[in-house]
Amino acid sequence: MQDLKIFKNLFDVEDKVALVTGGGTGIGKIISEVLALAGSKVYITSRKLDIIKKTAEEINLKKPKHQINFFCSDISSEEGINKLVDNFISNEKSLNILVNNSGVSWGAPLGKFPYHAWDRVMKLNVAGLFHLTQCLLPYISSKASLENPSRIINIGSVMGTAPLGDGPYSYSASKAAVHQITKILAKELAQKMITVNALAPGPFLSKMTEFAVGTEEKEKKIAQNVPMGRIGKPNDIQSSVLYLCGPGGSYITGAILPLDGGIHIATGPEIFE
Ligand SMILES: NC(=O)c1ccc[n+]([C@@H]2O[C@H](COP(=O)([O-])OP(=O)(O)OC[C@H]3O[C@@H](n4cnc5c(N)ncnc54)[C@H](OP(=O)(O)O)[C@@H]3O)[C@@H](O)[C@H]2O)c1
Repeated sequence: MQDLKIFKNLFDVEDKVALVTGGGTGIGKIISEVLALAGSKVYITSRKLDIIKKTAEEINLKKPKHQINFFCSDISSEEGINKLVDNFISNEKSLNILVNNSGVSWGAPLGKFPYHAWDRVMKLNVAGLFHLTQCLLPYISSKASLENPSRIINIGSVMGTAPLGDGPYSYSASKAAVHQITKILAKELAQKMITVNALAPGPFLSKMTEFAVGTEEKEKKIAQNVPMGRIGKPNDIQSSVLYLCGPGGSYITGAILPLDGGIHIATGPEIFE
């Protein structure tokens, strides 16, 4: 009994209002589900209505305290972001947790990387994330306090930390930008009682990475390149989100949390061995 109380004091997110972009699939779905099942009132949003509706229905079947709500949005345009904000504020007056998870990638070899793959990736991963956060700030700050800071979690990537090749040039640069924006906003928003942190995941199974880890054989191959010997699992994401969003995480801001099984500290062979 006593132990459960300790857990609640550290990771409690009950009755918090949360918005998760790209919450219908992959990492966003994992985050939406853990927040909802832990008692938050969660809104998920992305472009494809059928997918977010299905995810909301699936999670709602597990009987969370608050039913998951959903609405469509396209965060890669200013118009789409304004629509998202209008939709959100027609339902809620304040926002405790914003998870900027929506993202796209593009891979092509050096020498063949298309010019338009910069615009597409940067518009959503960087401009969209920043502008959405900026537009929602009045609602994020409205209930933020010393005891209960509001939280912003940006989904970065190990690709934004380590100079890994593999072809996603604009994606890696966009995620490095996400990490830098995270630190800049953390600095500026601390005085408004808002923490801003980023998760920097390594490989997790999702629509985006299906091509690389979508079968047992492929997953095994990728796992060999991870120091901890496996790809990421949903509970790696879930624990980090509860940690950063609960009372126990209220003193952490500006962190880029590596969720990559050690990839970011794998520097290759030792030099003096
Ligand atoms: N999986 C990994 O290994 C990994 C590793 C590091 C970082 N990440 C990051 O994790 C985040 C989630 O990716 P994921 O791996 O879970 O892949 P995913 O399943 O493809 O998720 C991407 C999400 O972004 C949404 N989205 C795409 N374009 C959008 C737009 N214009 N407006 C609004 N939403 C949009 C998608 O929904 P719609 O198509 O319905 O719009 C989808 O739900 C991304 O930021 C990604 O960069 C993933």
